[in-house]
Amino acid sequence: MKILSKISFIFLIGLICLTQLTLSQKCLEYLRPVYRYETKVIDCPMVSTNDKRQSIPTSNDLMFIINFKCLTNDKITCGKVENVLITAGKFITATLNLKTAITVDAQFLNYCLTYGDCDQEKVILGSTRPARMIPIQDTDGKVRLYPQALLKQLELPEHPQYGPSDIITSFNSDTNFWFEGDPLYTLKDNSDMLYVVVHELIHGLGFTTAWRDYFNIQAITPVPGYFSTDTKGQFFEFGFDKNLVLLPSGKSLTSIADELNKFPIKLDITNNEFISSFLKSPQFPIAKNLYKNAVTHGTIGFLITPNLQPNTPITQDDVILLETSLNPFLRGSSLAHVDAQTYFDSSDFLMMYSYPKISLGQMMFNVGSTNTTGPIGPKLRLLLGTLGYEVKKDYIPPVKLSNLQSNNEIQASKTSIPSNTIKPQPSADTNNIEKNDSSLVNFNFLLSIICILLSFTYSIYSKY
Ligand SMILES: *[C@@H]1O[C@H](CO)[C@@H](O)[C@H](O)[C@H]1NC(C)=O
Ligand SMILES: [Zn+2]
Repeated sequence: MKILSKISFIFLIGLICLTQLTLSQKCLEYLRPVYRYETKVIDCPMVSTNDKRQSIPTSNDLMFIINFKCLTNDKITCGKVENVLITAGKFITATLNLKTAITVDAQFLNYCLTYGDCDQEKVILGSTRPARMIPIQDTDGKVRLYPQALLKQLELPEHPQYGPSDIITSFNSDTNFWFEGDPLYTLKDNSDMLYVVVHELIHGLGFTTAWRDYFNIQAITPVPGYFSTDTKGQFFEFGFDKNLVLLPSGKSLTSIADELNKFPIKLDITNNEFISSFLKSPQFPIAKNLYKNAVTHGTIGFLITPNLQPNTPITQDDVILLETSLNPFLRGSSLAHVDAQTYFDSSDFLMMYSYPKISLGQMMFNVGSTNTTGPIGPKLRLLLGTLGYEVKKDYIPPVKLSNLQSNNEIQASKTSIPSNTIKPQPSADTNNIEKNDSSLVNFNFLLSIICILLSFTYSIYSKY
Protein backbone atom coordinates (compact mmCIF):
# COMPACT_ATOMS: atom_id res chain seq x y z
CA MET A 1 0.00 0.00 0.00
CA LYS A 2 1.27 3.40 -0.98
CA ILE A 3 1.39 6.02 1.69
CA LEU A 4 1.99 9.53 0.54
CA SER A 5 4.18 11.14 3.09
CA LYS A 6 3.52 14.70 1.95
CA ILE A 7 -0.18 14.38 2.53
CA SER A 8 -1.52 15.18 5.96
CA PHE A 9 -2.89 12.60 8.30
CA ILE A 10 -6.45 13.10 7.23
CA PHE A 11 -5.59 11.88 3.78
CA LEU A 12 -3.75 9.00 5.29
CA ILE A 13 -6.85 8.09 7.19
CA GLY A 14 -8.69 7.95 3.93
CA LEU A 15 -5.96 6.15 2.14
CA ILE A 16 -5.42 3.45 4.66
CA CYS A 17 -8.88 3.06 6.03
CA LEU A 18 -11.25 3.04 3.12
CA THR A 19 -9.82 0.37 0.92
CA GLN A 20 -13.02 -1.02 -0.50
CA LEU A 21 -16.25 0.45 -1.65
CA THR A 22 -18.38 -1.89 0.40
CA LEU A 23 -17.55 -3.03 3.89
CA SER A 24 -13.88 -2.60 4.48
CA GLN A 25 -11.36 -5.26 5.22
CA LYS A 26 -8.98 -2.71 6.58
CA CYS A 27 -9.58 -0.77 9.73
CA LEU A 28 -7.81 2.06 11.38
CA GLU A 29 -6.26 1.87 14.80
CA TYR A 30 -4.36 4.42 16.78
CA LEU A 31 -0.99 4.10 18.39
CA ARG A 32 -0.32 5.29 21.88
CA PRO A 33 -0.25 7.91 23.20
CA VAL A 34 -3.89 8.19 22.41
CA TYR A 35 -4.04 11.92 21.86
CA ARG A 36 -1.59 12.00 19.00
CA TYR A 37 -2.17 11.41 15.33
CA GLU A 38 -0.23 8.24 14.71
CA THR A 39 -2.33 5.51 13.25
CA LYS A 40 -1.82 2.07 11.87
CA VAL A 41 -3.83 -0.07 9.52
CA ILE A 42 -4.85 -3.50 10.59
CA ASP A 43 -6.67 -6.27 8.81
CA CYS A 44 -10.21 -6.77 9.90
CA PRO A 45 -11.68 -9.45 7.66
CA MET A 46 -15.43 -9.80 7.44
CA VAL A 47 -16.97 -12.11 9.98
CA SER A 48 -20.57 -13.21 10.36
CA THR A 49 -22.23 -13.17 13.75
CA ASN A 50 -22.29 -16.94 14.09
CA ASP A 51 -18.58 -16.98 13.49
CA LYS A 52 -16.87 -17.92 16.71
CA ARG A 53 -13.97 -15.58 16.12
CA GLN A 54 -15.84 -12.90 18.05
CA SER A 55 -16.62 -13.95 21.57
CA ILE A 56 -19.22 -11.85 23.26
CA PRO A 57 -19.67 -11.69 27.02
CA THR A 58 -23.34 -11.74 27.88
CA SER A 59 -23.69 -11.26 31.62
CA ASN A 60 -25.88 -8.26 32.30
CA ASP A 61 -23.54 -6.82 34.89
CA LEU A 62 -20.59 -7.00 32.58
CA MET A 63 -21.77 -4.84 29.74
CA PHE A 64 -19.03 -2.34 30.43
CA ILE A 65 -15.73 -4.12 30.76
CA ILE A 66 -12.93 -1.96 32.06
CA ASN A 67 -9.34 -3.04 31.47
CA PHE A 68 -7.52 -0.69 33.76
CA LYS A 69 -3.77 -0.11 33.87
CA CYS A 70 -2.55 2.18 36.60
CA LEU A 71 0.95 3.38 35.86
CA THR A 72 1.63 5.41 38.97
CA ASN A 73 2.84 4.38 42.40
CA ASP A 74 -0.03 6.01 44.23
CA LYS A 75 -2.12 2.91 44.84
CA ILE A 76 -4.83 4.80 46.70
CA THR A 77 -5.50 7.08 43.74
CA CYS A 78 -5.28 4.08 41.41
CA GLY A 79 -8.11 2.49 43.37
CA LYS A 80 -10.19 5.67 43.19
CA VAL A 81 -9.68 5.99 39.44
CA GLU A 82 -10.67 2.41 38.82
CA ASN A 83 -13.79 2.91 40.92
CA VAL A 84 -14.75 5.97 38.90
CA LEU A 85 -14.37 4.04 35.64
CA ILE A 86 -16.61 1.27 36.94
CA THR A 87 -19.16 3.77 38.25
CA ALA A 88 -19.20 5.65 34.93
CA GLY A 89 -20.00 2.38 33.15
CA LYS A 90 -22.86 1.81 35.59
CA PHE A 91 -24.33 5.23 34.84
CA ILE A 92 -24.27 4.45 31.14
CA THR A 93 -25.77 0.98 31.48
CA ALA A 94 -28.47 2.50 33.70
CA THR A 95 -29.61 4.29 30.53
CA LEU A 96 -28.57 2.01 27.69
CA ASN A 97 -29.49 -1.59 27.12
CA LEU A 98 -26.23 -2.69 25.60
CA LYS A 99 -26.58 -5.74 23.42
CA THR A 100 -22.89 -6.40 23.18
CA ALA A 101 -20.43 -5.67 25.94
CA ILE A 102 -18.30 -2.57 25.48
CA THR A 103 -14.68 -2.90 26.42
CA VAL A 104 -12.81 0.13 27.63
CA ASP A 105 -9.03 0.19 27.82
CA ALA A 106 -8.16 2.75 30.43
CA GLN A 107 -4.84 4.00 31.70
CA PHE A 108 -3.87 6.37 34.45
CA LEU A 109 -0.38 7.70 33.90
CA ASN A 110 1.81 10.75 34.13
CA TYR A 111 1.70 12.49 30.74
CA CYS A 112 4.63 14.70 31.68
CA LEU A 113 6.95 11.83 32.61
CA THR A 114 5.69 9.45 29.95
CA TYR A 115 5.10 11.69 26.95
CA GLY A 116 6.88 14.92 27.87
CA ASP A 117 3.59 16.84 27.94
CA CYS A 118 4.41 19.07 30.84
CA ASP A 119 2.64 22.31 29.86
CA GLN A 120 1.21 23.63 33.11
CA GLU A 121 -0.89 26.29 31.37
CA LYS A 122 -2.92 23.84 29.41
CA VAL A 123 -2.92 20.56 31.24
CA ILE A 124 -4.33 17.60 29.42
CA LEU A 125 -6.66 15.82 31.82
CA GLY A 126 -7.29 12.86 29.65
CA SER A 127 -8.04 11.61 26.23
CA THR A 128 -10.59 9.26 24.71
CA ARG A 129 -11.18 7.77 21.32
CA PRO A 130 -13.02 4.95 19.65
CA ALA A 131 -10.57 2.07 19.25
CA ARG A 132 -11.58 1.62 15.62
CA MET A 133 -13.45 3.68 13.07
CA ILE A 134 -15.00 1.37 10.55
CA PRO A 135 -16.34 2.42 7.14
CA ILE A 136 -19.84 1.18 6.54
CA GLN A 137 -22.21 1.62 3.65
CA ASP A 138 -25.23 3.20 5.28
CA THR A 139 -28.94 2.69 4.58
CA ASP A 140 -28.91 5.73 2.27
CA GLY A 141 -26.04 4.26 0.28
CA LYS A 142 -23.40 6.63 1.64
CA VAL A 143 -20.27 5.33 3.27
CA ARG A 144 -19.79 6.67 6.77
CA LEU A 145 -17.27 5.91 9.49
CA TYR A 146 -18.74 4.24 12.55
CA PRO A 147 -17.04 3.74 15.89
CA GLN A 148 -16.78 0.08 16.78
CA ALA A 149 -18.78 0.40 20.02
CA LEU A 150 -21.80 1.64 18.08
CA LEU A 151 -21.46 -0.83 15.25
CA LYS A 152 -21.54 -3.68 17.75
CA GLN A 153 -24.95 -2.57 18.99
CA LEU A 154 -26.43 -2.60 15.50
CA GLU A 155 -26.03 -6.40 15.42
CA LEU A 156 -25.11 -6.53 11.76
CA PRO A 157 -25.24 -10.03 10.27
CA GLU A 158 -21.81 -9.40 8.81
CA HIS A 159 -19.22 -6.90 9.90
CA PRO A 160 -15.49 -6.25 9.83
CA GLN A 161 -13.67 -8.08 12.58
CA TYR A 162 -13.72 -6.07 15.76
CA GLY A 163 -10.65 -5.20 17.79
CA PRO A 164 -10.25 -6.36 21.38
CA SER A 165 -11.40 -3.04 22.83
CA ASP A 166 -13.98 -0.48 21.78
CA ILE A 167 -12.91 2.65 23.54
CA ILE A 168 -9.42 3.67 24.53
CA THR A 169 -9.02 6.25 27.20
CA SER A 170 -6.27 7.57 29.39
CA PHE A 171 -6.11 10.07 32.21
CA ASN A 172 -3.23 12.19 33.31
CA SER A 173 -2.03 11.51 36.84
CA ASP A 174 -0.11 14.80 36.68
CA THR A 175 -3.30 16.76 37.44
CA ASN A 176 -5.67 17.04 40.36
CA PHE A 177 -8.89 15.16 40.14
CA TRP A 178 -11.76 15.33 42.57
CA PHE A 179 -13.27 12.06 43.72
CA GLU A 180 -16.53 11.32 45.47
CA GLY A 181 -15.87 11.78 49.17
CA ASP A 182 -13.29 14.57 48.75
CA PRO A 183 -14.26 17.94 50.29
CA LEU A 184 -16.66 19.76 47.96
CA TYR A 185 -14.85 23.08 48.13
CA THR A 186 -11.85 21.50 46.39
CA LEU A 187 -13.99 21.14 43.25
CA LYS A 188 -13.02 24.72 42.51
CA ASP A 189 -9.52 23.60 41.58
CA ASN A 190 -9.98 19.93 40.80
CA SER A 191 -12.12 18.31 38.14
CA ASP A 192 -14.67 15.70 39.09
CA MET A 193 -13.30 12.63 37.41
CA LEU A 194 -16.67 10.92 37.18
CA TYR A 195 -18.12 13.86 35.22
CA VAL A 196 -15.14 13.77 32.87
CA VAL A 197 -15.26 10.00 32.37
CA VAL A 198 -19.00 9.80 31.65
CA HIS A 199 -18.69 12.70 29.18
CA GLU A 200 -15.75 11.05 27.45
CA LEU A 201 -17.41 7.65 27.23
CA ILE A 202 -20.36 9.24 25.43
CA HIS A 203 -17.90 10.55 22.83
CA GLY A 204 -16.47 7.03 22.60
CA LEU A 205 -19.97 5.67 21.98
CA GLY A 206 -20.29 7.81 18.86
CA PHE A 207 -21.01 11.41 19.85
CA THR A 208 -18.45 12.63 17.37
CA THR A 209 -18.64 14.52 14.10
CA ALA A 210 -16.45 14.52 11.01
CA TRP A 211 -17.35 18.15 10.19
CA ARG A 212 -14.58 20.54 11.00
CA ASP A 213 -12.27 23.21 9.62
CA TYR A 214 -9.48 20.84 8.62
CA PHE A 215 -7.40 23.43 6.81
CA ASN A 216 -7.99 26.56 8.88
CA ILE A 217 -9.70 28.26 5.96
CA GLN A 218 -12.92 29.16 7.77
CA ALA A 219 -14.80 26.50 5.89
CA ILE A 220 -15.96 23.19 7.25
CA THR A 221 -16.16 19.84 5.53
CA PRO A 222 -16.40 16.19 6.51
CA VAL A 223 -13.09 14.31 6.58
CA PRO A 224 -11.47 14.03 3.13
CA GLY A 225 -10.21 10.61 2.21
CA TYR A 226 -10.36 7.90 -0.40
CA PHE A 227 -10.92 4.21 -0.88
CA SER A 228 -7.99 3.30 -3.01
CA THR A 229 -5.42 5.07 -5.12
CA ASP A 230 -7.29 4.44 -8.36
CA THR A 231 -10.55 6.07 -7.30
CA LYS A 232 -11.10 9.72 -6.59
CA GLY A 233 -11.26 10.96 -3.06
CA GLN A 234 -14.31 12.27 -1.29
CA PHE A 235 -15.50 13.77 1.98
CA PHE A 236 -16.68 11.20 4.48
CA GLU A 237 -19.12 11.75 7.32
CA PHE A 238 -19.28 9.82 10.57
CA GLY A 239 -22.39 7.86 11.59
CA PHE A 240 -23.42 10.75 13.89
CA ASP A 241 -23.48 13.18 10.95
CA LYS A 242 -26.34 11.43 9.17
CA ASN A 243 -28.71 13.19 11.59
CA LEU A 244 -27.38 16.73 11.42
CA VAL A 245 -29.67 19.44 10.07
CA LEU A 246 -29.69 23.19 9.63
CA LEU A 247 -32.23 25.23 11.55
CA PRO A 248 -34.80 26.35 10.71
CA SER A 249 -34.77 24.94 7.16
CA GLY A 250 -34.31 21.30 8.08
CA LYS A 251 -31.74 20.89 5.30
CA SER A 252 -29.55 17.91 6.07
CA LEU A 253 -25.79 18.25 6.33
CA THR A 254 -25.55 15.08 4.27
CA SER A 255 -27.07 16.97 1.34
CA ILE A 256 -24.34 19.57 1.81
CA ALA A 257 -21.73 16.81 1.89
CA ASP A 258 -23.17 15.61 -1.42
CA GLU A 259 -22.66 19.10 -2.86
CA LEU A 260 -19.12 19.23 -1.54
CA ASN A 261 -18.41 15.85 -3.04
CA LYS A 262 -18.64 17.39 -6.49
CA PHE A 263 -15.17 18.71 -5.71
CA PRO A 264 -12.59 16.33 -7.17
CA ILE A 265 -10.14 15.26 -4.50
CA LYS A 266 -6.89 14.33 -6.16
CA LEU A 267 -4.70 11.92 -4.32
CA ASP A 268 -1.18 12.92 -5.20
CA ILE A 269 -1.21 16.53 -4.07
CA THR A 270 0.11 18.34 -1.04
CA ASN A 271 -2.00 20.01 1.59
CA ASN A 272 -1.30 23.43 0.11
CA GLU A 273 -2.23 22.31 -3.37
CA PHE A 274 -5.44 20.87 -1.98
CA ILE A 275 -6.24 24.11 -0.20
CA SER A 276 -5.55 26.37 -3.16
CA SER A 277 -7.66 24.31 -5.54
CA PHE A 278 -10.46 24.01 -2.99
CA LEU A 279 -10.44 27.77 -2.38
CA LYS A 280 -10.97 28.36 -6.10
CA SER A 281 -13.70 25.75 -6.47
CA PRO A 282 -17.46 26.37 -6.60
CA GLN A 283 -17.71 24.12 -3.53
CA PHE A 284 -15.73 26.46 -1.32
CA PRO A 285 -18.59 28.96 -0.81
CA ILE A 286 -20.76 26.05 0.34
CA ALA A 287 -18.23 25.00 2.97
CA LYS A 288 -17.75 28.65 3.91
CA ASN A 289 -21.47 29.14 4.34
CA LEU A 290 -21.69 26.14 6.59
CA TYR A 291 -18.83 27.55 8.63
CA LYS A 292 -20.99 30.64 9.17
CA ASN A 293 -23.69 28.39 10.58
CA ALA A 294 -21.16 26.59 12.72
CA VAL A 295 -20.25 29.87 14.44
CA THR A 296 -23.83 31.14 14.79
CA HIS A 297 -25.86 30.09 17.79
CA GLY A 298 -28.85 27.84 17.24
CA THR A 299 -28.33 26.96 13.59
CA ILE A 300 -27.25 23.30 13.60
CA GLY A 301 -28.89 20.45 15.42
CA PHE A 302 -29.02 16.68 15.67
CA LEU A 303 -32.47 15.53 14.57
CA ILE A 304 -34.21 13.51 17.26
CA THR A 305 -37.71 13.55 15.77
CA PRO A 306 -38.01 10.49 13.55
CA ASN A 307 -39.79 10.38 10.19
CA LEU A 308 -39.71 14.07 9.40
CA GLN A 309 -39.99 14.78 5.71
CA PRO A 310 -36.75 16.15 4.29
CA ASN A 311 -36.53 19.95 4.29
CA THR A 312 -39.46 20.35 6.66
CA PRO A 313 -38.92 23.50 8.73
CA ILE A 314 -37.93 22.38 12.19
CA THR A 315 -37.90 23.83 15.66
CA GLN A 316 -35.67 23.40 18.67
CA ASP A 317 -37.98 20.63 19.90
CA ASP A 318 -37.04 18.45 16.94
CA VAL A 319 -33.34 18.59 17.62
CA ILE A 320 -30.67 18.63 20.24
CA LEU A 321 -28.90 21.88 19.43
CA LEU A 322 -25.18 21.60 18.88
CA GLU A 323 -22.50 24.01 20.02
CA THR A 324 -22.30 26.70 17.35
CA SER A 325 -21.67 29.77 19.50
CA LEU A 326 -17.90 29.65 19.48
CA ASN A 327 -16.31 32.05 17.02
CA PRO A 328 -13.88 31.20 15.58
CA PHE A 329 -14.81 27.56 15.25
CA LEU A 330 -13.00 25.61 17.93
CA ARG A 331 -11.97 22.18 16.72
CA GLY A 332 -13.28 19.44 18.92
CA SER A 333 -15.45 21.83 20.89
CA SER A 334 -17.67 23.36 18.21
CA LEU A 335 -20.33 21.02 16.77
CA ALA A 336 -19.00 18.01 18.69
CA HIS A 337 -20.95 19.10 21.79
CA VAL A 338 -24.41 20.25 22.76
CA ASP A 339 -25.18 23.94 22.90
CA ALA A 340 -23.98 25.21 26.26
CA GLN A 341 -26.30 28.22 26.31
CA THR A 342 -29.37 26.06 25.88
CA TYR A 343 -28.51 23.07 28.01
CA PHE A 344 -26.40 24.51 30.82
CA ASP A 345 -29.29 24.47 33.26
CA SER A 346 -31.11 21.48 31.86
CA SER A 347 -30.74 17.77 32.43
CA ASP A 348 -28.98 17.57 29.05
CA PHE A 349 -25.91 19.40 30.37
CA LEU A 350 -23.49 16.48 30.13
CA MET A 351 -22.17 16.99 26.61
CA MET A 352 -21.41 20.71 26.86
CA TYR A 353 -17.87 21.48 25.75
CA SER A 354 -17.16 23.27 29.00
CA TYR A 355 -16.95 21.66 32.39
CA PRO A 356 -19.05 23.64 34.87
CA LYS A 357 -16.62 23.16 37.76
CA ILE A 358 -19.12 21.36 39.91
CA SER A 359 -19.42 17.66 40.37
CA LEU A 360 -21.70 15.42 38.38
CA GLY A 361 -23.74 14.75 41.51
CA GLN A 362 -24.28 18.44 42.17
CA MET A 363 -25.00 19.22 38.57
CA MET A 364 -27.70 16.54 38.47
CA PHE A 365 -29.07 17.82 41.76
CA ASN A 366 -29.17 21.41 40.47
CA VAL A 367 -31.10 20.52 37.35
CA GLY A 368 -33.28 17.96 39.13
CA SER A 369 -32.24 14.88 37.21
CA THR A 370 -30.73 12.87 40.07
CA ASN A 371 -33.61 10.40 40.09
CA THR A 372 -35.19 11.01 36.69
CA THR A 373 -32.65 10.60 33.90
CA GLY A 374 -29.31 10.86 35.72
CA PRO A 375 -26.38 12.21 33.70
CA ILE A 376 -27.90 11.31 30.34
CA GLY A 377 -30.79 13.74 29.86
CA PRO A 378 -33.95 13.21 27.79
CA LYS A 379 -32.59 14.65 24.56
CA LEU A 380 -29.28 12.84 24.86
CA ARG A 381 -31.28 9.65 25.37
CA LEU A 382 -33.10 10.32 22.11
CA LEU A 383 -29.82 11.07 20.38
CA LEU A 384 -28.25 7.81 21.52
CA GLY A 385 -31.41 5.98 20.45
CA THR A 386 -31.19 7.62 17.02
CA LEU A 387 -27.56 6.54 16.70
CA GLY A 388 -28.68 2.95 17.23
CA TYR A 389 -28.42 2.26 20.94
CA GLU A 390 -31.33 0.70 22.76
CA VAL A 391 -32.40 3.12 25.47
CA LYS A 392 -33.99 1.88 28.68
CA LYS A 393 -37.43 3.23 29.49
CA ASP A 394 -36.72 3.82 33.14
CA TYR A 395 -33.71 5.12 34.94
CA ILE A 396 -32.66 3.80 38.31
CA PRO A 397 -29.70 5.67 39.82
CA PRO A 398 -26.92 3.09 40.11
CA VAL A 399 -24.96 5.03 42.71
CA LYS A 400 -25.85 7.82 45.11
CA LEU A 401 -23.60 10.82 44.62
CA SER A 402 -23.03 13.66 47.05
CA ASN A 403 -24.72 16.98 46.50
CA LEU A 404 -25.12 20.18 48.47
CA GLN A 405 -27.96 18.76 50.52
CA SER A 406 -26.32 15.50 51.41
CA ASN A 407 -23.17 17.23 52.48
CA ASN A 408 -22.36 19.33 55.49
CA GLU A 409 -20.19 21.69 53.56
CA ILE A 410 -23.07 23.74 52.24
CA GLN A 411 -21.55 27.04 53.30
CA ALA A 412 -18.10 26.37 51.92
CA SER A 413 -19.61 25.15 48.71
CA LYS A 414 -22.04 27.99 48.25
CA THR A 415 -19.29 30.52 48.27
CA SER A 416 -16.91 28.69 46.02
CA ILE A 417 -19.00 26.76 43.54
CA PRO A 418 -20.95 28.27 40.70
CA SER A 419 -24.67 27.75 40.78
CA ASN A 420 -26.65 26.85 37.73
CA THR A 421 -27.69 30.45 37.32
CA ILE A 422 -24.34 31.27 35.76
CA LYS A 423 -24.76 31.09 32.05
CA PRO A 424 -21.98 30.63 29.55
CA GLN A 425 -21.06 33.89 27.93
CA PRO A 426 -22.71 34.63 24.61
CA SER A 427 -20.63 34.05 21.54
CA ALA A 428 -19.24 37.55 21.27
CA ASP A 429 -17.52 37.11 24.59
CA THR A 430 -16.40 33.55 24.21
CA ASN A 431 -14.82 33.97 20.86
CA ASN A 432 -11.29 34.36 21.96
CA ILE A 433 -9.91 33.06 25.19
CA GLU A 434 -6.61 34.87 25.01
CA LYS A 435 -7.78 38.27 23.84
CA ASN A 436 -10.65 38.56 26.22
CA ASP A 437 -10.55 40.95 29.11
CA SER A 438 -13.63 41.51 31.25
CA SER A 439 -15.25 38.19 30.55
CA LEU A 440 -12.06 36.28 31.03
CA VAL A 441 -12.73 35.48 34.66
CA ASN A 442 -16.18 34.20 33.98
CA PHE A 443 -15.06 32.39 30.95
CA ASN A 444 -12.20 30.61 32.62
CA PHE A 445 -14.47 29.95 35.53
CA LEU A 446 -16.69 27.91 33.29
CA LEU A 447 -14.26 26.66 30.79
CA SER A 448 -12.06 24.46 32.84
CA ILE A 449 -12.30 21.59 30.42
CA ILE A 450 -12.26 21.75 26.69
CA CYS A 451 -12.56 18.73 24.54
CA ILE A 452 -10.24 19.11 21.66
CA LEU A 453 -10.58 16.84 18.73
CA LEU A 454 -7.24 15.62 17.50
CA SER A 455 -7.83 13.36 14.62
CA PHE A 456 -10.72 11.40 16.10
CA THR A 457 -9.47 11.69 19.62
CA TYR A 458 -11.05 13.82 22.26
CA SER A 459 -8.52 15.24 24.62
CA ILE A 460 -9.59 17.11 27.65
CA TYR A 461 -7.58 20.11 28.56
CA SER A 462 -7.73 21.93 31.79
CA LYS A 463 -7.10 25.61 31.40
CA TYR A 464 -6.63 27.64 34.54
C1 LIG B 1 -33.52 10.36 44.96
O1 LIG B 1 -34.09 9.19 45.51
C2 LIG B 1 -33.48 8.78 46.72
C3 LIG B 1 -34.04 7.43 47.10
O2 LIG B 1 -35.45 7.42 46.98
C4 LIG B 1 -33.71 9.85 47.78
O3 LIG B 1 -33.09 9.47 49.00
C5 LIG B 1 -33.11 11.15 47.31
O4 LIG B 1 -33.39 12.19 48.21
C6 LIG B 1 -33.64 11.52 45.93
N1 LIG B 1 -32.88 12.64 45.47
C7 LIG B 1 -33.40 13.71 44.93
C8 LIG B 1 -32.48 14.78 44.56
O5 LIG B 1 -34.59 13.83 44.72
ZN1 LIG C 1 -16.28 16.56 24.96
